[in-house]
Amino acid sequence: MLAIRLVSEPTRLDTLVLPIRPEGSEGPAALVPTASPLADEVRAEATALLPVARLAGDAGEVWAQLRPAGTPSRLILLGVGAGDEHAWRSAGAALARAGKDETCITVALPVDGATALRGLVEGLLLGSYRFRLTEAGATPALAEVDVVVADPGALDATLATARATAEMTRLARDLTNTPSSTKNPAWFAGQVEAAAAAYPDLHLRVREPEELAAEGFGGILAVGGGSASGPRLVELDWRPADARTHVVLVGKGITFDTGGISIKPVPAMKLMRKDMAGAAAVVTATLGAAALRLPVRVTTLAPLAENMVSGSAFRPGDVIRHYGGLTSESTNSDAEGRLVLADAMAYAARELRPDLLVDLATLTGANAVALGKRHAALYSDNDQLATDLLTAVEAAGEHAWRMPLPADYVEYLGSEVADLHSSPDRGAGSVVAALYLREFTGDLRDRWVHVDMSAPSWSEDEHAELTRGATGWGVRGLLRWLATLG
Ligand code: BES
Ligand code: MN
Ligand code: ZN
Repeated sequence: MLAIRLVSEPTRLDTLVLPIRPEGSEGPAALVPTASPLADEVRAEATALLPVARLAGDAGEVWAQLRPAGTPSRLILLGVGAGDEHAWRSAGAALARAGKDETCITVALPVDGATALRGLVEGLLLGSYRFRLTEAGATPALAEVDVVVADPGALDATLATARATAEMTRLARDLTNTPSSTKNPAWFAGQVEAAAAAYPDLHLRVREPEELAAEGFGGILAVGGGSASGPRLVELDWRPADARTHVVLVGKGITFDTGGISIKPVPAMKLMRKDMAGAAAVVTATLGAAALRLPVRVTTLAPLAENMVSGSAFRPGDVIRHYGGLTSESTNSDAEGRLVLADAMAYAARELRPDLLVDLATLTGANAVALGKRHAALYSDNDQLATDLLTAVEAAGEHAWRMPLPADYVEYLGSEVADLHSSPDRGAGSVVAALYLREFTGDLRDRWVHVDMSAPSWSEDEHAELTRGATGWGVRGLLRWLATLG
């Protein structure tokens, strides 16, 4: 991964990157004043280049200029648009792509550099992300980036936050991209154990199938029952001494979703290795909270199971007894995510009794039908909590949209044979799933947020800091939000 250093003077003046702002009230597109003074001849040359290169200064525009006899020997003009964090994130990602054949580059930051630094670092680290299971093929040469700022010491914390945020997002992408032949529930739990070992204050408990049975986690056992790789429940606890707020995060961890006996058709199944993206996001956000020593207690639950077709698979029409005793009639084994989440949420509400409960899940295809590819669907009865999370998610460069929990649809959850019907075919797919989950929140009903992130968990194209494949959606937003809770 890229090594990023803060420096007060450029030392390796091979390739210098200069930020360009667009035309505006201050005049035509121009160089942004940088923290470190530039040689007059470099400034003059960059200024002369702007109209020739037809650079508008939009975020992510890149122009590379060779200077055979000069120092620096290459100049990269980088559009930074409005100059806010989002624009710098796009610019950083564009720079990582355009500069992939450089080995070391130096970026001159604007005078007041904190916002730019956060965006630049996240953009560089996320835009340069690649998932490969083989060493074959070209790996980007770009290994080192020096960032020139006025006072490196003053920006150390900003750099650390941006780096941890991006590293944890990359880890979530790795976990989600990993093929399910490798990624069974035990493997995922092992990855959490290995990552958590770096933080001695982080406590991990992994429940195996026997313990899940003894404690009554019937939803996780039903969904995991058809697989040769048994289910697990990961419980990861970051408990700093100075915490005043306790948050429980729950993430759907279906390591592969065939649909079960209600089997999916080929096109719908091909990407179902990503059905643990919620678990990946909450686990890595918790690792991030530990890495940044955020003063908030975070307990993360990841119910892990593989939804398979076999003689031991659960059946449509089965009645499932969840942790705590509520029962669900399940008529479609493809609505498996809510069954494992129900157990984990009931456990959180009854035993952990946190202040706030948030669950993330690749729960329904209906998320994308309603909101398209980039927005998660966010549900809560608590306006303040919903606003706080939406604000954090957007500030982090992710997108979510609030959806309703209509009282009218609650009756659809009725069942003749159980407390609840888990997948009524009335209402709307993502909405009734949220209403179903709410039944397991107990006393936390008004302090709960559900996020259906099926759509933004994956990207079909390269788009700013997103690369093709898993996006790591949720890690950045959760870390922003957790940082406000101290
Ligand atoms: N994992 C899927 C949802 C999904 C679909 C995630 C597409 C990402 C992309 C989930 O388990 C599922 O199959 N949901 C069903 C629910 C239905 C059976 C009530 C769906 O959305 O069709
Ligand atoms: Mn399913
Ligand atoms: Zn699923």
